Amino acid sequence: MKYLVISCSLNPDSRSRLLAGAVHDHLDGAGEEVELLDLQETGMPLCDGDGVYAEPAVGELGERVRGADGILMAVPIYNYDVNAAAKNLIELTGRAWTDKVVAFACAAGGQGSYMSVMGVANSLMLDFRCHVVPRFVYATGDAFQGDEVVGEDVRERLAQVADELRRVTGSLRGGAATG
Ligand SMILES: Cc1cc2nc3c(=O)[nH]c(=O)nc-3n(C[C@H](O)[C@H](O)[C@H](O)COP(=O)(O)O)c2cc1C
Repeated sequence: MKYLVISCSLNPDSRSRLLAGAVHDHLDGAGEEVELLDLQETGMPLCDGDGVYAEPAVGELGERVRGADGILMAVPIYNYDVNAAAKNLIELTGRAWTDKVVAFACAAGGQGSYMSVMGVANSLMLDFRCHVVPRFVYATGDAFQGDEVVGEDVRERLAQVADELRRVTGSLRGGAATG
């Protein structure tokens, strides 16, 4: 199985990028083939629904998504939703998401936005028949200290979501992943 962990925040001091790193390292430590895609490093253009699809950077993003069996999106919560960069990536890469197993890890400012990934999760299920892992990580500021994820419960949930991504991807794609 191939896994792609996408860090969607464009903030240089991103906390969700720390979540992405933890999931990447967990999958790597479990012996999985896993890549990290950091949207800060892609020069991703904004989706205009037209000429942008011919841009090489967009083709490359599509290939990264298409090449994965399971995907973890690490997202910042902005305005009770995933940030615009995460949605822009999906707008640009569209059908490359078909049939992927998708999990989420979110960084947010407060507890009240905990259902914020559901809009994009619905869209991935309805548009591209993605299988969304029914467990996600939702971390607020107290889970972080500097460049580290220190919250024990969040660290545990990161490991759980990574293992669940393996389990669902393995069973849907015929692999032999175990918890
Ligand atoms: C424009 C903007 C909108 C935000 N909206 C919300 C929100 O609706 N709910 C929430 O809990 N936090 C909100 N936040 C706080 C961010 O989710 C928080 O700073 C988080 O750490 C961002 O992820 P990042 O550090 O990976 O960039 C918002 C922050 C910004 C900059």
